[in-house]
Amino acid sequence: MLDLIDSLEKNGLAELASASSSDSLEAWRLAYLAGSGKLKTAMAGFKDVPKEQKPAVGARMNQVKAALEQAFEARKLAIASSGAVPQPFDVTEPGFVSSQSVGRAHIITRVIAELCEVFGRMGFEVAEGPELEDDEHNFIKLNIPAGHPARDPADNFYVDDPRTTAVPRMIRSQTSTVQVRVMEAAVKAGGGRLAHPIKIISPGRVYRPDTVDATHSFMFHQIEGLYLDRDVSMVDLKTTLLQFARAYFGEDAEVRLRPSYFPFTEPSAELDMKIRLRPDQPARWIELGGCGMVDPAVLQHCGIDPEEWTGFAFGFGIERIAMGRYSIPDIRLLFENDLRFLKQV
Ligand code: DAH
Repeated sequence: MLDLIDSLEKNGLAELASASSSDSLEAWRLAYLAGSGKLKTAMAGFKDVPKEQKPAVGARMNQVKAALEQAFEARKLAIASSGAVPQPFDVTEPGFVSSQSVGRAHIITRVIAELCEVFGRMGFEVAEGPELEDDEHNFIKLNIPAGHPARDPADNFYVDDPRTTAVPRMIRSQTSTVQVRVMEAAVKAGGGRLAHPIKIISPGRVYRPDTVDATHSFMFHQIEGLYLDRDVSMVDLKTTLLQFARAYFGEDAEVRLRPSYFPFTEPSAELDMKIRLRPDQPARWIELGGCGMVDPAVLQHCGIDPEEWTGFAFGFGIERIAMGRYSIPDIRLLFENDLRFLKQV
């Protein structure tokens, strides 16, 4: 009886090892483990085993049963996860296409990478700053002093109470915070003065308690730019923006600068671009964001001598850029994560 059990184990394991598909695995299960399988048949012989041998034979039998069952489960798992077990197929069957969906980065992530690439070619390096900021970087050093309407708690996501905290924290409302951080770091690295030009862009999330509609969201992305050097002028700003627009939107991109006001630039302008959001509608001017020559007061707040350095800055909405580039008519489509939309862009 013990010999019979031994050979059952040996043959069972060997045959199992050569089962390479779920069909052959099932055939093996029927042959060995099922109700009328070899294991049960062998167990039926147990009643004829002499009484004194019963404990040893019984124990061995249980051992082999457990071993076969365990090996079966392991084999099943291996076959299921390999997936690559070659299946014989009928070459005369009509062809079929098995659709495999391949994941990819979200459209905003891809647009950010494209923008970094385009500005990278113009010599801009990518800088990053924190989303949890304080009002010193979000406002004060950007020349937005206490009492300025932009600091209204109803228009910002404060983390601390701005009425009772000296430097209240907030989730940033603009990526202009990174301008300040980059300038501060450069001055620190230069031992108290700016030692070389700065040319950075900084893409990232910003937050404002805006009501959500087709062109607004409480969270969106901006790309900030800052170029400080000796004798940078408004002409450099205009040229850079025009070059960017042509490189990213095409040679016939139409952009215009409109005079505007920002506390941290003087003069300031807004960049509009002629964009067709729907194929059935005419192109219209859409505001991409603001720009201007960095206000000398901002440079001074960061320890930079405005007599030696001048520069321009800009901050554009990335969703607006993406909507223009890929004709997306509604900003909400970008955040709903509906695969039917995401697969198209
Ligand atoms: N931070 C501004 C905003 O959120 C945009 C902006 C305007 C950024 C002018 C700039 C700038 O760097 O120079 O509306």
